[in-house]
Amino acid sequence: MGEPIVLLSKRELEKMRAAGSLAAELLDHLAPMIQPGVTTLEINDEAERWTKAHGAVSAPLGYHGFPKSICTSINEVVCHGIPSKQQVLQDGDIINVDVTPILDGYYGDASRTFFVGTPSPVAKKLVDVTEECLRRGIEAVKPDARIGDIGAAIQEYAEAEGFSVVRDFVGHGINRIFHTEPQVPHYGTRGKGRRLRPGMVFTIEPMINEGTWEVEVLEDEWTAVTLDRKLSAQFEHTIAVTEDGYEILTLRR
Ligand code: MF3
Ligand code: CO
Ligand code: CO
Repeated sequence: MGEPIVLLSKRELEKMRAAGSLAAELLDHLAPMIQPGVTTLEINDEAERWTKAHGAVSAPLGYHGFPKSICTSINEVVCHGIPSKQQVLQDGDIINVDVTPILDGYYGDASRTFFVGTPSPVAKKLVDVTEECLRRGIEAVKPDARIGDIGAAIQEYAEAEGFSVVRDFVGHGINRIFHTEPQVPHYGTRGKGRRLRPGMVFTIEPMINEGTWEVEVLEDEWTAVTLDRKLSAQFEHTIAVTEDGYEILTLRR
């Protein structure tokens, strides 16, 4: 059961495509900046400038008091890392950049994990596995499939590769609201959970850990880190359920 899940009209899906495309374009724009010596505040400030210049608004800024325009999550940071002048990217780091522009009232939510310089072998494997987890989660999306099918596809692959799936943060319905029904866990059981219908829109955003799946939130009340301080990676797309499968909304058009 749970709250009703909104089905978007064709017109609304077109707005979601525009917002999603902008999110993808923003990540492409930021990608070349992600180099040793750059601070996460510099990445944030460029994201904010670019978003405004494209007629959009950065959803994270002020959201439940979040202080910056994007999330930047380095190494053991699982999600919700706060950009800072003190945070200088180092060779070998991995960093997730999560952006959510609002365009014409609709939200486009996407993130990628980038390598800073040359990754360690385990960092490379973790990031590659996490991207494949997102791909497998997306492939499970079609009418009459269940929410649990998505999580099962992700969990099976992540655990088979020797990694763990974060439980405390999930994908979410998204439209003119940042976080709404349904919740989309990145673990679960096939055939369980709510049934997918054409017009549903939600994110899939697996956070995959090198060690334990357990997380803790730091004193700043945002930064979520792995309990064992081992690495965590994440990729995110905003997805629409279509008549015959899915559409990735956060791709450049
Ligand atoms: N973009 C994040 C997500 O994928 C949410 C960030 S909320 C913030 O849902 F407040 F931390 F910015
Ligand atoms: Co999201
Ligand atoms: Co996001």
